[in-house]
Amino acid sequence: MDQSAPVTARDIDDAAARLAGVAGSTPLHRSPRLSALTGLDVWLKREDLQEVRSYKGRGAYNLIAQLSDDERAAGVTCASAGNHAQGVAYACSRTGVHARIHLPRTTPRQKRERIAALGGSFVDVVVDGDTYDDAAALSRVHAETTGAIPVPAFDDPRTVAGQGTIAAEVLAQLAAQDSAAPDAIVVPVGGGGLLAGVLTHVAEHAPTTRVIGVEPQGAASMTAAVEAGGPVDLADVDPFVDGAAVRKVGAIPFDVVRRHRPDLRVVPEGLVCVEMLALYQADGIIAEPAGALAPAALRLADLGLAPGSTVVCVLSGGNNDVSRYAEVVERALVQEGLKHYFLVDFPQEPGALRRFLDEVLGPDDDITLFEYVKRSNRETGPALVGVELQRREDYEPLMKRMADSALRVELVEPSSPLFRFVQ
Ligand SMILES: Cc1ncc(COP(=O)(O)O)c(C=O)c1O
Repeated sequence: MDQSAPVTARDIDDAAARLAGVAGSTPLHRSPRLSALTGLDVWLKREDLQEVRSYKGRGAYNLIAQLSDDERAAGVTCASAGNHAQGVAYACSRTGVHARIHLPRTTPRQKRERIAALGGSFVDVVVDGDTYDDAAALSRVHAETTGAIPVPAFDDPRTVAGQGTIAAEVLAQLAAQDSAAPDAIVVPVGGGGLLAGVLTHVAEHAPTTRVIGVEPQGAASMTAAVEAGGPVDLADVDPFVDGAAVRKVGAIPFDVVRRHRPDLRVVPEGLVCVEMLALYQADGIIAEPAGALAPAALRLADLGLAPGSTVVCVLSGGNNDVSRYAEVVERALVQEGLKHYFLVDFPQEPGALRRFLDEVLGPDDDITLFEYVKRSNRETGPALVGVELQRREDYEPLMKRMADSALRVELVEPSSPLFRFVQ
């Protein structure tokens, strides 16, 4: 394959043939919950059910399986915050190629352990560097000094073609049940490899299907690239949606996006958490934040899909570390307007706290955080108070009682820097 030529639908068909029996063929499940919630006919492409629990084995295997004998002998290297590394580890154990995988120290333990288990003796894992960029620099040095072949997570036509096999599978699965191509396919976007692959296949085989790319609000690098006319570095990246928190999209995916102009949408991290919990509690599906991005986007008001439209959401991954659920619950409550934080200036006198409880809190309001330090040399002392409400409608009465009380109360807005202290 000429790596400077644009990816074609034919490359994706070839990738699908290469992947047969190795990675791919995940189920397409209808979601009664999301269909009822949105009035659409919603289907989930269950990439969380891959052996590596994300779609990333598709691109990695498609690239590694095409290496020459000399390249295979040189081994491969990559940097990843988790899922791509699992895909590479899996592909290496299937092809017998050796890999050196660089992970930043922030990689969740669950992902580190899975990489080692999937790669076995074919993979050396190096955990070093504070960020993904640091790990990527180390992987580049390894490639330059040893001749190991880099396996890019998204900026390579072989990776893009492998990810595009998802679209081929979706269309075949719908056709097999006598359904037409969907009205829309919704995919998460990190560096843009999955989006580019899906766009390429759909443009050729289902040109009336809309492709909607979804980015986390804290890492909307494809939206930034489209606005700037080319890939640009984001100044700040919120790492919460770790699979899709990419500072700069790939040149190759961007080129595909520039030609096919998909719809792009940005989803707040809190909404991702709301959907992660719904998937877990109602459907029994473990999704990682990036995996829940596409279904979370169905809650946006401006998707522009007619009632009853058939929509396929790519549920791209399920590698969630269980220790993250506490933060997920917290962010979901804030998103739904059920959790609020206040700075309350308490008079330094006996009974002040009791008055706050009696006069300000409603019968169902629950204090979830109270941080207070008594200072004897001042008239008032600030307390940081977290309140969880039973219903969103309880918020206005709570605010009114606060305004009516003699206490000075300041709402801590989720956008304020102080909020990072409580989340
Ligand atoms: C679960 C999951 N979803 C989405 C993405 C974003 O994919 P891409 O970089 O191809 O845009 C990733 C990337 O690692 C991922 O792991």
